[in-house]
Order: sequence, then structure tokens, then C-alpha cells
Amino acid sequence: MSKPRILVARAVFPETLARLEQHFEVEHNQADQVWSKQDLAARLRGKAGAFTTGTERIDAEVLAACPELKVCANMAVGYNNFDVPAMTARKVLATNTPDVLTETTADFGFALLMATARRVTESEHYLRAGKWTKWSYDMFAGAEVHGSTLGILGMGRIGQGIAKRGAHGFGMDVIYHNRSRLSPDLEAACKARYVSKEELLETADHLVLVLPYSAESHHTIGAAELAQMKPTATLVNIARGGIVDDGALAAALRDRRIAAAGLDVFEGEPKVHPDLLTVPNVVLTPHIASATVQTRRAMADLAADNLIGFLVNGRPLTPLNPEVLS
Ligand code: DGY
Repeated sequence: MSKPRILVARAVFPETLARLEQHFEVEHNQADQVWSKQDLAARLRGKAGAFTTGTERIDAEVLAACPELKVCANMAVGYNNFDVPAMTARKVLATNTPDVLTETTADFGFALLMATARRVTESEHYLRAGKWTKWSYDMFAGAEVHGSTLGILGMGRIGQGIAKRGAHGFGMDVIYHNRSRLSPDLEAACKARYVSKEELLETADHLVLVLPYSAESHHTIGAAELAQMKPTATLVNIARGGIVDDGALAAALRDRRIAAAGLDVFEGEPKVHPDLLTVPNVVLTPHIASATVQTRRAMADLAADNLIGFLVNGRPLTPLNPEVLS
């Protein structure tokens, strides 16, 4: 019997490719080109499965061009690149990679918070530029992290990981806001207190965004919300670009309406709002929160397991629209 045909839409670990090739006839992209939507659709035509990352948009238009497609396995926990209702309507299974990246991403959220509050990259640029000629009492004085108030917007698995690091490691007072409140047990484990969005914005010394992107969460943080924050506060976004209005944030940072920001994700990435590149009080990283070798391998393995699980055994591990299976 011939093997099902799949597309691996971006470069992956050679071991992942070798494993997929045991089960499938694979068209790959080890040259790691970023295809246009038309090119992606053309390559997906005649394929039963796709191994995607957050950069491939699978929507009604792409699906209409690829009637043989049965499954798209995203190598990411976020799946705002998928139009899941359109996939469900066409009986195309969507999968993502939850859990395997939770702790690594929470580590990075904390790293970005620390770097932002303590002005790590700004001071390093100063040193590298040869500007450091003497020690002085207020040089790169930043914001206290231990014992301060940590606000978390979006209290899923990663948000809870950040809360635990803040509460247990840094003695922070943790407050959060989420669509639904955590159970008392989870709140106790995270030492976190549920507050309104207004109280979160007004009270947090450090506000970390970890909520999923959707039409509803678009520009959750814009000029009005930034104005509600303390002028001494820091903002960290490890969720998705588009949750923050980057133009409004750049203006707030320039005018010191908040103290600093740490951003791993950007609206329209890999493009970055030009005004963010001109303000010194922002730490910018290229969407690397889950990027450790072990975690990226675990994500690739889980995406491959989902393709094999579904197309070979009929049992995907982490389906997003399990109704397609019935
Ligand atoms: C995720 O898993 O959603 C990360 O942001 C990588 O895309």
C-alpha cells in the first residue's frame, strides 16, 4: 500500500524528518523558505497531512484549494494561524503541542521580566559601545523584582508557571486576571489572587501577558490600558503579537508613561514596529520563548506523533477539534 503524502512546511530536525519518512511520502522544506499563501496551497494540494508552524496560515481559502487534506499538526501550542472552525467544517483535524513547552516558556517569561526590569540589554549595549568610563550610584538603576507585585493576564499553564516562579522563587505578590477564575487549589498552588482587569493594570509592578490571540484579544493592551498602568511598571509580552498595540506601546515607552517593556512577539512579525527600535527602554527578542533544544525537539516529536497517530493509527494525541474524529 502506498504511504500517505504529507508536507513539512518549514525546516525541522533531520531526525524528525527521518521519522516522518518511515510512515509518509514527505515533501519537505529544509531550505526553510517562507512560502506565500498561494505557494503553500499549491504544495498542500494532494497531501493528506501537513506539519506546520505558527507561520503557516491554514484558512478557508487554503482548505478549499486542498480537498484531500485531513490533518494539520502545528509545532506550537498557539494556533491562531489555524481557522479551526473552517477546518472543522471541512473535517480537517487540527493539533498543537501543549504541555511540552510550558516550563521552558515560563522560564523565558521570567528571564524577559528580569532583563527588562533590571535593564540588562540596555546596559550591555552601553558597555559594548565603550561608554562605561566610571561606576555611578544611579547607573542603570532599574525596578525591584523580588517582593514586588507580579500581574499575569492569561492564567493558563504558562501563566501558572510564571506565577509559581514569582511567588515561590521571588516572594512576589501575584495577582491575575483570566476569562475564568482558577480553582481554589490551583490558586493556592500558584499563590495567586484573582482581580479585575482594571485592578491588574493599576496594581502590577510587572505585568506579563500570556493570553491566546483571537479577534477578541486583539489590542487588549492599547493606549487606554497603558495609561492605567503605573509609570514605574514593566510590561512583558510572550503571548502573541497583536495582543499589544505596538505603536501605542512605543509611544508610552518614549514618553515614560510606563518604565519599560520586554517583547518576544510582535504584530506582523518578523517585522517590528519601527518606533520600538528607537526606544531604549525595551528588550526585544525574536519569538524564542520555547527555544531550548530539548523543548523544540519535544514540540517536533509531538507534532510528528500527532500526524502518525492520526494518519497511521487513527489516534492523534492532542487534537484541537476532536469532533472531527467522530
Ligand atoms: C508556541 O508554541 O505557540 C510558540 O509561540 C512557538 O510558536
